[in-house]
Amino acid sequence: MQTQFLSADEQSLQLGAELIKAGQVVGFPTETVYGLGADALNSEAVHAIFAAKCRPADNPLIVHIAEWNEIEPLCHVNEMARRLADAFWPGPLTMILPRKDIIPDVVTAGLDSVAIRMPSHPIARQLISLSGCPIAAPSANRSGRPSPTTAAHVLEDMDGRVPLILDGGPCSVGVESTVVSLTGDMAVVLRPGGVTPEMIAAVLGDCKIADSIMRPLKEGEAAPSPGMKHKHYAPRARMTLYEGEAQAVEKRICHEYDSTSAKEKPLILTCDAHIAAYGDRRCYSLGADAAAAARNLFAALRYADEESITRIYSESYSQSGVGLAVMNRMARAAGFDMVNV
Ligand code: TXA
Ligand code: MG
Repeated sequence: MQTQFLSADEQSLQLGAELIKAGQVVGFPTETVYGLGADALNSEAVHAIFAAKCRPADNPLIVHIAEWNEIEPLCHVNEMARRLADAFWPGPLTMILPRKDIIPDVVTAGLDSVAIRMPSHPIARQLISLSGCPIAAPSANRSGRPSPTTAAHVLEDMDGRVPLILDGGPCSVGVESTVVSLTGDMAVVLRPGGVTPEMIAAVLGDCKIADSIMRPLKEGEAAPSPGMKHKHYAPRARMTLYEGEAQAVEKRICHEYDSTSAKEKPLILTCDAHIAAYGDRRCYSLGADAAAAARNLFAALRYADEESITRIYSESYSQSGVGLAVMNRMARAAGFDMVNV
């Protein structure tokens, strides 16, 4: 298959909508990460997404809508959903709600709930509106690779596998949406993202965080969200996260870096304020703060693979605000290899 790589404009969006209507898969930008979209109500089209990504069939997809009235046919809306939509839609929040029959089984991997999100990115919204259908879209990476935050990342993973990639520039949030389950009495955050648990609790009064966000699943433990049982975001390098007081962490990382075997190619993940402490050691700065780290982390992991890095020593972030989303992705990339200094 020939992949067209086009800057998103009126004409290429029209083409994207025609392809979606015809049951094809299109790569497109959202404010979180790039998505791989198809008509959510066409099960053949949704199967094609799974094939392009090599995604396991037991991992359900998010259904994207552009307007509030599009949610009614898809799921049973409750009061928590209304309030969260008021506060955070359009934006980086996905809600899990009881599904209606119109949703094909392939979208939900057979679950009786469905994930719904209204993205804020203008290109995503126009693509949904022009297509005239809800769009099922996972992140546009090959399964097991870091999520794409630029159109070039999508091309790396999807060249020859989808007919069109729309380029809308780099994503502003950089980590995938917050996934919150609203099927019980209380909201439960299954995946942290740009809308933080603190923000959700401020609207609903309370909110739980699935405790497996910052630890590996125990043997036989059921994953609260199917995506959590799959290996994610793993760079080829072995990665370790160091937590603790900044100077102690810098000292420890320098020590580990300097005692790395000559056969290895090490890299330090740090931030603008600390990079000078590492002298001429190989470093990648994730930027000024946790929000910048959210934007830059997946590009850093892709960089590590491209440079054939075999060992990553990483600083940590406070697990509050968007820092929780950054630490969740870092901990998974490190296979939960975390050291308290
Ligand atoms: O920011 C995002 O959410 C991006 C953009 C493209 O919108 N999409 C994305 O999709 O990250 P994906 O497929 O990579 O992640 C969807 C997550 C998975 O962890 C999946 O297991 C979970 O949502 N999920 C989907 N449906 C679910 C359901 N019914 N119950 C629990 N978890 C669900
Ligand atoms: Mg994904």
